[in-house]
Amino acid sequence: MQNKQIVAGNWKMNGLTSDVENFTSAFLDKVEPGRAEVIICPPFTLTEAFAEVAGTTFAVGGQDCHPEESGAFTGNISAPMLKDLGCKYVIVGHSERRAKHFETNFLVNHKAVAAQKAGLIPILCIGETLKEREDNKTQEVLSKQVKYSIPSSATEENLIIAYEPVWSIGTGLVPTDEQIVETIAQIREAIKIAFSEELSTKIKILYGGSVNAKNAKQIMSLQGVDGVLVGGASLSPEGFAEIVAGAKPIN
Ligand code: PGA
Repeated sequence: MQNKQIVAGNWKMNGLTSDVENFTSAFLDKVEPGRAEVIICPPFTLTEAFAEVAGTTFAVGGQDCHPEESGAFTGNISAPMLKDLGCKYVIVGHSERRAKHFETNFLVNHKAVAAQKAGLIPILCIGETLKEREDNKTQEVLSKQVKYSIPSSATEENLIIAYEPVWSIGTGLVPTDEQIVETIAQIREAIKIAFSEELSTKIKILYGGSVNAKNAKQIMSLQGVDGVLVGGASLSPEGFAEIVAGAKPIN
């Protein structure tokens, strides 16, 4: 994987075909090519349209995939289907899927393996709820998510982690710099225990949760942060380009 910071946009269930051209022309006009590894994860319906215009400026990702390659799974999308449409990445284990679709660490692990088998890089999300943080359970919860949702096949080349505190997603609440640095260090420690020291230092960890054009640069300057996963603010082409501009320049 390249040594650039990663700026990934998660469009969630937003956008129609008519939005793709407006977004991409304004975004491509503003964004500095090569500044970061930019990833756009549109809803499945827009995957092909984004892949067609992505060029070398950004990569396209899915927002979820099924653990099986194919079969009788009405309404689901498999990892090979995403790959077929031009995806390079896929988000797995997003907290909205964990909470609203009852996804477990076990299932997320299998989705990550399916993604890797299809040649996609999973962006595997973990994060604590507000109650868990208030109860001082953050480290325990994240260690479990690390141990059980990251597959043993993970390397720094074939998997990215996104640390997304659930209480920060879509709320405008952002942890302090100290909390981000401390929690990401705890995640790396959990990876060291569950996998290896090498993986713990080399694997890319993104921060996600209420990232916007104003706070992205500061967040991406923090120790241990390899980029950001952006929800709401990735829908604005100008705002998203500004977030990309906040990535650390490569020496
Ligand atoms: P947000 O979402 O940036 O709108 O808080 C982040 C995410 O869910 O990935």
